[in-house]
Amino acid sequence: MKKLKNWDKTSWLSSLKYNLCLVNYLSKKIKFTKKTKVLDIGCGRGLLISALKNRFNFKNLPIGIDIVKHKIRDKKIKFINTSAVNYLKKTRLKFDLILFKQSIHFFRLSEIKTLIFNAQRILNKNGKIIILSLNTKSNDWPKFKCFKMKLSKSLKKDEKIMSLIKSILKEFKISNFNFRVVLMKSIYLKMLNNRFTSCLLNLSSKDLNKGIEEVNRMYGKKINFFDRLMCLEHKKK
Ligand SMILES: C[S@@+](CC[C@H](N)C(=O)[O-])C[C@H]1O[C@@H](n2cnc3c(N)ncnc32)[C@H](O)[C@@H]1O
Repeated sequence: MKKLKNWDKTSWLSSLKYNLCLVNYLSKKIKFTKKTKVLDIGCGRGLLISALKNRFNFKNLPIGIDIVKHKIRDKKIKFINTSAVNYLKKTRLKFDLILFKQSIHFFRLSEIKTLIFNAQRILNKNGKIIILSLNTKSNDWPKFKCFKMKLSKSLKKDEKIMSLIKSILKEFKISNFNFRVVLMKSIYLKMLNNRFTSCLLNLSSKDLNKGIEEVNRMYGKKINFFDRLMCLEHKKK
């Protein structure tokens, strides 16, 4: 798969409001203290761990792993540019929270087994693995025809991934995170043009431009929808 470079560039996904909502959501699941050690797998630009660090002032810098070498401005997080599978296999560090936010579907099923087994290995007692992924039953992102087809295929793969993870972890809780997005259509069209999601990476420029026109015709100046994620959490006893 081509690398995803523009996901959290300029969109609701990079907004402080979105990341603060996620921080609130996570803080209902985890008793964060200054001592909490956090690892974010596929952290993108590290905006979520930055927001967590700002809120809880962790003693140990939260670590973010990503295969894309993003320019990270926040010095209060530790960014490691490597593949998550390598990192998780090798690290001797232990964590209280291991996050996979919208990153798990980038891996093959065999890699996911390795990731989850190793995440369990490096989780402290009472620590949690939290996996956030697009809600496979309901997705409101404005889409054009071939984007819809690609996304529906990708969500089917996500269902397989979730079943595999549930079969490995055995004990888990499921909940939902919904964020109301209100943005100018022009910004969303730019996101499409920047191929913000993996479903757009392999589209031809012709199909992408046609799709952008389609969305442009379908929506007014402002776009309004819910970004819906499902959350699987597992606690190490
Ligand atoms: C959809 S983005 C999510 C980014 C961030 N977690 C967020 O929600 O804003 C998926 C991220 O996973 C990263 N990724 C994909 N394959 C990876 C791998 N093998 N190792 C580490 N990161 C990877 C991508 O580069 C991308 O930044």
